[in-house]
Order: sequence, then structure tokens, then C-alpha cells
Amino acid sequence: MTQLKKGITIYNQLPENYDAISINSGTVHHATQTAPAVSFQGFNYVPRYNDDAYVIKRDWRALNDAEIRCLQANGRRNDYNTVYLGDIPGKLKEQFQSLSLAGAANRDEVMEKLAASPEKTKALSEQLNAFLQPLANKQPFKFHCIGINFPNIELVACNTTKLPAGYKPQDIRYMGMHNDGTKDMTIYTANKAGNRISINIGEESRSFLFVNLSMVQAINMLKKKIDIVEHNVNIANIGRFFFQHYPDYPVLKIRQQPYQFYIAPTDNCFHDGSTLGSSTLDVTMVYFGNFQY
Ligand SMILES: [Fe+2]
Repeated sequence: MTQLKKGITIYNQLPENYDAISINSGTVHHATQTAPAVSFQGFNYVPRYNDDAYVIKRDWRALNDAEIRCLQANGRRNDYNTVYLGDIPGKLKEQFQSLSLAGAANRDEVMEKLAASPEKTKALSEQLNAFLQPLANKQPFKFHCIGINFPNIELVACNTTKLPAGYKPQDIRYMGMHNDGTKDMTIYTANKAGNRISINIGEESRSFLFVNLSMVQAINMLKKKIDIVEHNVNIANIGRFFFQHYPDYPVLKIRQQPYQFYIAPTDNCFHDGSTLGSSTLDVTMVYFGNFQY
């Protein structure tokens, strides 16, 4: 495996500290590795990927001391060079719990539970704003979505907007490890796009996976392998080229327990989420901003 480079760092406030993080030996094309089967709410299927999707190797191990030192954030952390990890405040956690969103069977049920308790939902929203405001770096932030994923999906990211209404879970094509930014930015401006905070409000732990390299680092590494002009490498296809030419570059996996959050520059690094091993619906709350912790 390739050694970790100094790149995107981790500011880790989790009680589990670095025990929450593991590392593997890189990525493979999806066709060489079968996805685990999904069986939930009467749906039984093996998730399928886009043709050019790259997935994670499964040889996870604990970080060694040198890797921890390489990942630790320093005083120059900001919204695009650092992944922040922590627990949400106890009061906020209690508010989520009193709405019992965890345990919902689907998106509609999550929304119904919120709508059924307007006062609790309003108080929750106010508490969320009070939590996020000090992290927002004096810049605007906005609610993005409540993310819903089936359990036991090894890599959850997919684009369902092009599927016909009434599509079935087995119709989904997952995209594999990816960077979010595909329009309104270039490889060189992906670090100006801000970041996201994602709070696990489901019942079980999930994982956030990422490669600790910025888009600029990734393109500079690619320049050593291919002519990036000739291959027309851009913000939308850089992942495919990177994983083709650097299959041994490790991926980091962060275990995110219920009511823990990550803040990550998802336009500026390759990443995905995972619900592998879980048996209940995955629910996350996501805001966009320029968060720092
Ligand atoms: Fe993403």
C-alpha cells in the first residue's frame, strides 16, 4: 500500500478518538468485488454500481502512530483542509430522541414524526441553529437535506434524480467513491465551495469514508502518471482517473455513532458513506456552510 501523504487532516473530538478510524489499502473497480446483498422491508437485491465506479478494499486495520500523526489537524485548520469529528450537545441529542426519528421505517415516516410535533420540531430547529452558529465561521449556512439510506449498503452515494418516479431500490446505480463538486467549480476552485456537516440521527452507527487528499493534490499526483490535458481530466471525472492510477492509496473509514457528526469538504475530497453491517434505516441531517470546530 502507498503511504498516507500529509493532506486533509482530522480534528477529532470523538470520545473514541482514533479508535473510531480505520484504514485500508485502497480501492478497486466495482466489477472485481461483489457488493454485499441487501435485505430490508421486503426488498432483496445486490446493489449495482455505475460502470466506472470504484469501491473500497475490505482490508481494514487500525491506524499506526505515524498515520495518526500524519492525520492530526494543526493550528492552520480551516473549512477545506480538515474533517472535524464530534458529538452533538446533550440537549440537542435529547431533542432528537424525544422526536424518536431513529426507528423510522422510511423518509415519509421521518417527515410525519417532525410534522406531528411542530413545537418540538421548532425547538429542535432553534437548538440546531444555536449549535451551528458558532461553528459557521461568521458565514451563512443552510439546511440541505435529511439523508435516508437502506441498511447494509457498502457505499451509499447515488443519483436518484434521473430515475423514473416509483423506482425500486434495486434500480439504483451507486456511484462509488466520488467528489461532490461537478458544476460551478473546477479542480482548482473546489476548495472554495465550503463544506457540510452531517449528523447521524439514525439508530445505528454508520461510516464516513474519505481519501485525505485535496483535489489539487489529486491532480498533481495524476500529472505524474498521465497527460491531464490530453485526457481532459476535470472535476467530474478526476475520481475515475485517480482510482485507476492510484489504486493503492488508502481510504480512511470513520465510524459515526448515533448523534455524532462529521464536518467535511466533500467537494474537495473523494468520499462516500457506508451502512455496511446495519439492519435499520440510516438517517442523517445535513447542512451546508463553512463550518469549523
Ligand atoms: Fe458525496
